[in-house]
Amino acid sequence: MIRSVITGTGRSLPERRLTNAELEKMVDTTDEWIVARTGIRERRIAAPDEFLSKFATEAGRQALEGAGVPAEKVGLLICATVTPDMPIPAAACFVAHNLGLTNAYAFDMQAGCSGFLYALSVADAFIASGRAEHVLVVGGEILSKYVDWTDRGTCILFADGAGAVLLSAKEGEKGILGVVCRTDGSQSDFITMPGGGSRNPPNIKENIDARLPFIKMKGNETFKIAVRSLTEVSEQVLRDQGFTAADVDVFIPHQANTRIIEAVGSRLGIGADRTIVNIARYGNTSAASIPIALDECVREGRIQPGNLILMSAFGAGLTWAGALVRW
Ligand SMILES: CC(C)(COP(=O)(O)OP(=O)(O)OC[C@H]1O[C@@H](n2cnc3c(N)ncnc32)[C@H](O)[C@@H]1OP(=O)(O)O)[C@@H](O)C(=O)NCCC(=O)NCCS
Repeated sequence: MIRSVITGTGRSLPERRLTNAELEKMVDTTDEWIVARTGIRERRIAAPDEFLSKFATEAGRQALEGAGVPAEKVGLLICATVTPDMPIPAAACFVAHNLGLTNAYAFDMQAGCSGFLYALSVADAFIASGRAEHVLVVGGEILSKYVDWTDRGTCILFADGAGAVLLSAKEGEKGILGVVCRTDGSQSDFITMPGGGSRNPPNIKENIDARLPFIKMKGNETFKIAVRSLTEVSEQVLRDQGFTAADVDVFIPHQANTRIIEAVGSRLGIGADRTIVNIARYGNTSAASIPIALDECVREGRIQPGNLILMSAFGAGLTWAGALVRW
């Protein structure tokens, strides 16, 4: 059977660390509150002259090098992001050019924090159908440039970075076993950036003055539905493939909040020993959080051949997704 196998991974993060102590000087918050309520201690923030494709390119380059696959063999590049370099063209076009992907077509995927797993699902379908032999999937965000630095409910959370995987068609039992993706637009107002699009366009000054092109979130409402949805989608992708949570070797959840991760882990019965949590160092990097964590696990030897990896994400849309991979 042909499966999509992760043959290379990569990650790239800005140098600049923004600590909770620095945020204490910017908004009415404390290190204690941020650590206790979110688990975040510091996050990476892009410099004024840095933008998404810089980090997405570097993460993608590492994934290609790790796999040992020449750039011209990649048939498709998907860049999962809500913060592209600019609305037109897609960030994926810049990344494809930077990496020399001369035979790939490239597009952006917008599914909030679930973007990486949505992109993984599309990439897997391209490989399964024979339309591509190698697909590069990048999840990257520069959320710091869309954060309202006067809103303590969001500016402490969101951050920047990129992660990538190369998927290659291979015969055998290893690779992506299944991906489940879900969307519910009835609660689209939970996480939004209301300005900058055609509804509240940027060429109307009042929209800018009203601070509409900034991320807004109903944190508390989102928290509850995130726990429920992440649990359900994780259970479903496991059930679909004939597994239970007891079979999972490594659980890589989207890094939105340690309390969400702990609540989902406890509902699934997956303890801290099998759960990857790096939010303390990186904050919430949306579509980048899972591929960054995956790359760290691979490079630190935390994932071994034969391991069963569960990944799940939840975000704006609302969107949520779960994926199961045999390493
Ligand atoms: C955002 C989040 C950390 C807030 O934590 P919370 O425990 O839910 O906090 P609440 O929003 O209920 O606010 C509780 C109080 O803390 C205050 N507060 C909010 N941010 C604060 C901050 N940075 N520092 C100090 N106090 C803060 C609120 O104003 C509120 O005060 P009040 O009771 O006087 O009104 C949390 O809701 C969360 O992580 N939500 C989900 C995020 C998510 O999953 N997103 C999806 C993927 S992106």
